[in-house]
Amino acid sequence: MDDHRTPSQPDPAENPALQPILIHDKSLPGKIGEGSEARDVLDQQILVLGAQLVNQLHILLKTIRIHERTNAAVNQVVDATVTTVKTLARDNPVVIRLQNDFLYLGDAHLKMGPQQVAIFLEFIDSLNARGIAAISFSAEMRETDLREFAYQFISVDPATCTFDDLKRQLKEGEIHGIDIEEATSLMVRVGQKNKQLKNLAKQLYVKAVGAVGEVLQSIREGRAPNFRRAKRVVQSIVDVILQDEPTLLGLTTLRCYDEYTHNHSVNVSLLSVALGNRAGYPREALVDLGLAALFHDLGKASIPQDILNKSEEFTDEDWAKLRIHATLGVINLIRLRGLTNLPGRMAAAAFEHHLNYDLSGYPTLSMPWEVSLTGRILMVADCYDSMTSSRVYRRDPIAPNKVLTMMFAKSGILYDPVLLKLFVNCVGIIPIGCLTLLDSHELAVVIRPSANRQTATRPYVKLISDRSGRPIEGPEVDLAEKDADGRFKRSVVRLVDNTEYRFDTGRYFA
Ligand SMILES: [Fe+2]
Ligand SMILES: [Fe+2]
Repeated sequence: MDDHRTPSQPDPAENPALQPILIHDKSLPGKIGEGSEARDVLDQQILVLGAQLVNQLHILLKTIRIHERTNAAVNQVVDATVTTVKTLARDNPVVIRLQNDFLYLGDAHLKMGPQQVAIFLEFIDSLNARGIAAISFSAEMRETDLREFAYQFISVDPATCTFDDLKRQLKEGEIHGIDIEEATSLMVRVGQKNKQLKNLAKQLYVKAVGAVGEVLQSIREGRAPNFRRAKRVVQSIVDVILQDEPTLLGLTTLRCYDEYTHNHSVNVSLLSVALGNRAGYPREALVDLGLAALFHDLGKASIPQDILNKSEEFTDEDWAKLRIHATLGVINLIRLRGLTNLPGRMAAAAFEHHLNYDLSGYPTLSMPWEVSLTGRILMVADCYDSMTSSRVYRRDPIAPNKVLTMMFAKSGILYDPVLLKLFVNCVGIIPIGCLTLLDSHELAVVIRPSANRQTATRPYVKLISDRSGRPIEGPEVDLAEKDADGRFKRSVVRLVDNTEYRFDTGRYFA
């Protein structure tokens, strides 16, 4: 998302974010035990207030762009924001932190509801544009401090001013109780590799492939499948994605051609959970989504293996047989529903995943239909993985960056445009798994998107050949890294079509 989206005119008087809020007894967290139910409720309320604070800051920055500092609309939003800060900030300041394109309140991930996606993204863009990783507000902050801060924030032109310029202006403006932290120190933290988590991710991937295989086999043999194992794996997958999304998404580039359906199901599940997370799904809903995605092609269990494994081009008749897997998936799930507590969205996902955003896909519908959010997420994840994979009935996969370009050409037609934009944040503009040639003459594989949207074309890469073309098990480098003169140390010259050279970048994630 760009910083130049058309802003909607805020109307503070009508905005619920500015209505009076519940004031907590600030000593409550000290009185309620960790892990208790009451503490969970309190934590949730604090997160709601955190999201409210982001809303209020967003409105404040917009309002102050239009009005004078002392305008009544500005006063109203300033008062509301100060009340939220004083509610949240106790002995320590309240910190809104940006990490890896997510907003945090302290250490807690701030989830955005569907209505807040645009607000959060715009706020994240405005922080990124100014190189800000965190803003902290202490309880001592006064209305005048916040008003002045907002004014300085919007007066800084991100194109010409640096983080230090803004910091200096804040100091000169004698603004108390508000501080900003620069983004670079955080990027280093994000770049640190967590070996343990990486190993866990690999184990989970293998377990998930096993769980899909087990369920599909049960259906083929007419036995009632057990989804409990799959659910446990998906729960762990969601936990890992919430901690380190790129590590798990990197695994989607692993290709195991014999088990296309199993691998594809796991990849679609990982990509869907990552996208659902960006779309603001809470943890439990992410587990349901991941499970629905894992079994979106369940109907294929009822398609003859000789069609699924056919190596030559499909005939029209083959396609017709294959297409009914979307309906067979629902039939399979409905047949099994009495045996398990599967949510209805699993059946919906199986039915909707080939419908397309404009309903031009299959099954053909004879009645009006509104595709569920889960279905729209699946359409994006399913197509991306299908096109980037090598599969039995279309041997040549397409390079990830080309797939994204193709998908964007159909944005709003085949794919939900908002979800597609969020999806690029998951895989990166130069997506994970791409093979790149650097200006240093080294070859490198993209392993995770840039931590900062301003440097979206500078992902983290792993070097795989040196300047003279010798293969190396090179280090991971951040392409946004600069030398002492402020020049980028390495840049992508061009993307190399790894599929053209039948070069499997997946092994760099193994
Ligand atoms: Fe499918
Ligand atoms: Fe699929």
